[in-house]
Amino acid sequence: MSNNANGPLILGIESSCDETAAAVVAHGTHVLSNVIATQHELHRIYSGVVPEIASRAHLERIVPVIREAMRLADAKYEELDAIAVGNRPGLIGSLLVGVSAAKSLAWSLKLPIIGIDHIIAHLHAGLLDTEPVEYPAIGLVASGGHTSLFLVRGPLDVELLGKTIDDAVGEAFDKVARMLDLPYPGGPEISRLAKISRKRKDLSRDIVLPTSESVKLPRPMLNTNDCDFSFSGLKTAVLYAIKNLEMTTDVKEKFAREFEDAVVEILIKKTKRAIDETKARTLVIGGGVSANDAIREAFERLVSADMPDLTLHTPAQGLSTDNAIMIGISGYFGHLAGKNIDPADLTAKGNLRLSG
Ligand code: KG4
Ligand code: ZN
Repeated sequence: MSNNANGPLILGIESSCDETAAAVVAHGTHVLSNVIATQHELHRIYSGVVPEIASRAHLERIVPVIREAMRLADAKYEELDAIAVGNRPGLIGSLLVGVSAAKSLAWSLKLPIIGIDHIIAHLHAGLLDTEPVEYPAIGLVASGGHTSLFLVRGPLDVELLGKTIDDAVGEAFDKVARMLDLPYPGGPEISRLAKISRKRKDLSRDIVLPTSESVKLPRPMLNTNDCDFSFSGLKTAVLYAIKNLEMTTDVKEKFAREFEDAVVEILIKKTKRAIDETKARTLVIGGGVSANDAIREAFERLVSADMPDLTLHTPAQGLSTDNAIMIGISGYFGHLAGKNIDPADLTAKGNLRLSG
């Protein structure tokens, strides 16, 4: 199938949101390069991603990023077996930049192209170097745009079990951070403050208001009989709770901790439900929010304390958030499954639901 001694050599390209990324992956597991140009500094003053700014920045960066990935991999374009590109879902203006670059490159090199589902690719980031995986697995993708639980029967055989009915969990992190006057992206900032609050070994973790009431944030949909999530009410509860509060460091730290505790409780409970329902033996988590230390530790505790037969896979450092390695790995599975298509036939799809 491949001209390469190390198996299919795939160039992965990612541009669905605010990272322009390219990576070269051999044989689905051997990462030869990984280049990510982040746009956080461009969006920070707006406290969130501005689509027009994102697509313009992708346009400026996509060619140098691809060239750098090929240079670092010490790979020649003619050695590639296929080009994989995230073509769904995402910001349409951003997706189109990566998709157009991938199509023109594939066309000029006479290579097949593989369109990749960004959400499923997040699960593949956690499976790097972990084959053979014991299927079926439960996959949790917790990111800025999605919060979904999947039954994963194989690398490309994925069924949606439940998802957020409103905000994604990363979106809630970012919006709550904004309320607490913390910079974008908010997830790492909330995590940092929550850690400080826990380190204080503060026995009274309650957030005490000037009226001497204490605040406990809600855990929306915690006990519903399904695998769906809701984070909008949690976010709004923070908004109301801080309304008349002075934003002191103490207040920020305590809200960060209580918010993070609420998120942990919800993610763990719903994931546990999915595992119980399906009797899956493997759990893989992915997406930007899976970089969160408190969340990772909680999943590790779930396995060690409650589900010792479960194998947990988490993405390596730096592979929770958007990257092109995950696109390259997905591309490898797609290549093996014959999902290579003519570059002219690939389109970008902004809001597509999981197609399988
Ligand atoms: O997967 P990702 O890079 O992009 C999407 O596909 O959406 O996820 C970005 C999200 C942002 O909302 C960001 O705040 C969140 O991941 N995030 C975190 C952490 N690092 C990134 N959330 C909580 N804790 C973190 N350490
Ligand atoms: Zn993502």
